[in-house]
Amino acid sequence: MRKATITGWGKYLPPNVMTNKDLEEVVDTTDEWIRKRTGIKQRRIADEETATSDLAIEASKEALDKANLDADQLDLIIVSTVTPDMAFPATACIVQDKIGAANAAAFDLEAGCSGFVYGLSVGAQFIESGLYDNVLVIGAETLSKITDWEDRNTCVLFGDGAGAAVLQATDKGGFLSFDLGSDGSGADALYMEAGGSRNPATLETIKNKQHYIRMEGNPVFKFAVKTMKKASKDVIKKANLTTEDIDLLIPHQANTRIIESARRRLKLDEEEVYVNLPDLGNTSSASVAIAMAEARDNGKIKNGDNVLLVAFGAGLTWAATIIEWNENI
Ligand code: ACO
Repeated sequence: MRKATITGWGKYLPPNVMTNKDLEEVVDTTDEWIRKRTGIKQRRIADEETATSDLAIEASKEALDKANLDADQLDLIIVSTVTPDMAFPATACIVQDKIGAANAAAFDLEAGCSGFVYGLSVGAQFIESGLYDNVLVIGAETLSKITDWEDRNTCVLFGDGAGAAVLQATDKGGFLSFDLGSDGSGADALYMEAGGSRNPATLETIKNKQHYIRMEGNPVFKFAVKTMKKASKDVIKKANLTTEDIDLLIPHQANTRIIESARRRLKLDEEEVYVNLPDLGNTSSASVAIAMAEARDNGKIKNGDNVLLVAFGAGLTWAATIIEWNENI
């Protein structure tokens, strides 16, 4: 049976590091509060000239390299982002042009921090249906560009970066199951109010700081704890596995307390969970993509491992998948 699997992975992080100590100079916060309440120590911040596509392109090149694929062999590029270069054209089209993917279709997908896993599910369908052979799925963000640096409730949480995965066909392993969901009644817990058709940009919207991320931390926290467990259990069941079969959990990197709660509820050991949040903060839809690329490069993922990816985010949305890792098709 034709299945989709990941044959290439890559990441890119802008070089500029912002520590919690640096943030103490910006807002009324402390290194201790940020570490204790979130687990974050530092994050990467893109410079003024760098846009989301710039990060996406670097991650993509690495992923193509690992998959031993030329850009012009790609059939489709999906970019998941809440911080596109601009409203349109799609950031995926900018990436398509700049990496020389002359034969690829391209579009953006927006599902908050769950977007990369949503993107994997879409890419996998194109491959399993036989329509396409080589699909590039990217999660890329420059959240620093939509962060209110005067809002201590949000500015301590986010960072910039990109991760990418090449999907190809295999007859062994690959994606075993997906679980996607949404609850739009929670849309007002995490949003950017202006710049769309409801509130087009005006001098007023800028003055009112409506072009920044706004978040109600507590409802999002509760939603995250609940859905990380439920989506994980559901996707494990759909794959006809049990939690004992999971070799590595790669959760969305938003808060170590959320990750720890998921780990305990799934009865996994600490070494069975990949965490890079302390160094990178929450990079939204790039987070699972970057963590997966790092885990594979660090030898935490081996061929044949069952890897569980699970994310939650604005929407509200959630998404999970299990991959029986098989990169040698
Ligand atoms: N420094 C110091 N104090 C702070 C800071 C800060 N940076 N931020 C908030 N506080 C204060 C608050 O003002 C509050 O003070 P008060 O009691 O005097 O009012 C106190 O700390 C406690 O605030 P809470 O919001 O109750 O803190 P909580 O323990 O819930 O932690 C946090 C807040 C970290 C935001 C948590 O709720 C969380 O992680 N939520 C989930 C967020 C998340 O995952 N978002 C990403 C979603 S994915 C996406 O799509 C981008």
